[in-house]
Amino acid sequence: MGAETGFRAIVVDKTTDADGAGHPSASLCTVDDAFLMAGEVTVSVEYSSINYKDGLAITGRPGVARVWPLIAGIDLVGTVEESSDARWVPGDTVILNGAGLGESHHGGLAERARVAGDALVRLPEGISARQAAAVGTAGFTAMLSVLALERAGVSPDAGDVLVTGATGGVGSIAVAVLSARGFRVHASTGRVDELGDYLRKLGAVAVVDRATLGEPGKPLQAQQWAAAVDSVGSVTLANVLAQTRYGGFVTACGLAQGSDLPATVMPFILRGVSLLGVNSVEAPRPLREQAWARIATDLDLGLLDELTCEIGLEDSFHAAEGILAGNLHGRTVVDVRR
Ligand SMILES: NC(=O)c1ccc[n+]([C@@H]2O[C@H](COP(=O)([O-])OP(=O)(O)OC[C@H]3O[C@@H](n4cnc5c(N)ncnc54)[C@H](OP(=O)(O)O)[C@@H]3O)[C@@H](O)[C@H]2O)c1
Repeated sequence: MGAETGFRAIVVDKTTDADGAGHPSASLCTVDDAFLMAGEVTVSVEYSSINYKDGLAITGRPGVARVWPLIAGIDLVGTVEESSDARWVPGDTVILNGAGLGESHHGGLAERARVAGDALVRLPEGISARQAAAVGTAGFTAMLSVLALERAGVSPDAGDVLVTGATGGVGSIAVAVLSARGFRVHASTGRVDELGDYLRKLGAVAVVDRATLGEPGKPLQAQQWAAAVDSVGSVTLANVLAQTRYGGFVTACGLAQGSDLPATVMPFILRGVSLLGVNSVEAPRPLREQAWARIATDLDLGLLDELTCEIGLEDSFHAAEGILAGNLHGRTVVDVRR
């Protein structure tokens, strides 16, 4: 594509009302190369995806887009067109998750991107560009959570593992990866009847109604979990901590229920439970490469295809509403050329 050629992008911009208050909103625009920000690598984007954060940005909710106007999309997978970074040459297929994409730097919901070379990861062998986008930030974060548990020494023989928000993007891939590694995974969901079979197909040995975790509970409860992967936060995470066994580990990456944590110190001081934070956005390059290498070997790509739904760029608006309303499950890939 030449420098003068326009390309499609979902752009979040802010309009100011008479009282001076700003209102972000997103629209499908045609922009050109002059619109792009500085970066060493120009990428012809093939796929992006819809994560919870993309839902917030595209629907104009605060907290994700930090500069305006901004191309949305915290993920991209595409082919390098031009590069002044010696690590990347035209023709390379690259993945970028987070690292400010769609937050402070123009994102992946566009046919073209110009980005820094440092957080790019080469597409691992055996996985397609579409599958890498299906993994996206959600799957990358699920793998970071699994790696955090492994670094803590948690192994399948430690006991049962709980995954919350299990039908979501992070949750679905955490269930699939942990089950494939031999963990006995209990999957917590608000959609037991509708999606219980889906979770069992991903490998869950049991499905837990999230209502049992969603209301305030005692500081210490019956010890059930050797470890847990939580993407829900709030009361749910407090209850998960209260149900974790002596010496257990819980990862926290999300806030689907809320960003608060109404817990006590009891699980920490009486049961030696550890809470492990997971941040995909700032993940350093070696950790990105390690996580993507493990995604390529540990994730059943047939299952990934089954939990993936594909949409075109313009459908992102509908999908953004859907992910915030809790109507989606699994992963939604965006073919930005469609
Ligand atoms: N720290 C990081 O780097 C990082 C990276 C990726 C994502 N995240 C965060 O992780 C969370 C999940 O992201 P995602 O992309 O997987 O989103 P998602 O696909 O929307 O999944 C979230 C899931 O949480 C459950 N849920 C939604 N509302 C809930 C509520 N009020 N109470 C309890 N459970 C609720 C739902 O699962 P069920 O229907 O099965 O109950 C939903 O599918 C988000 O908060 C996101 O911002 C953080």
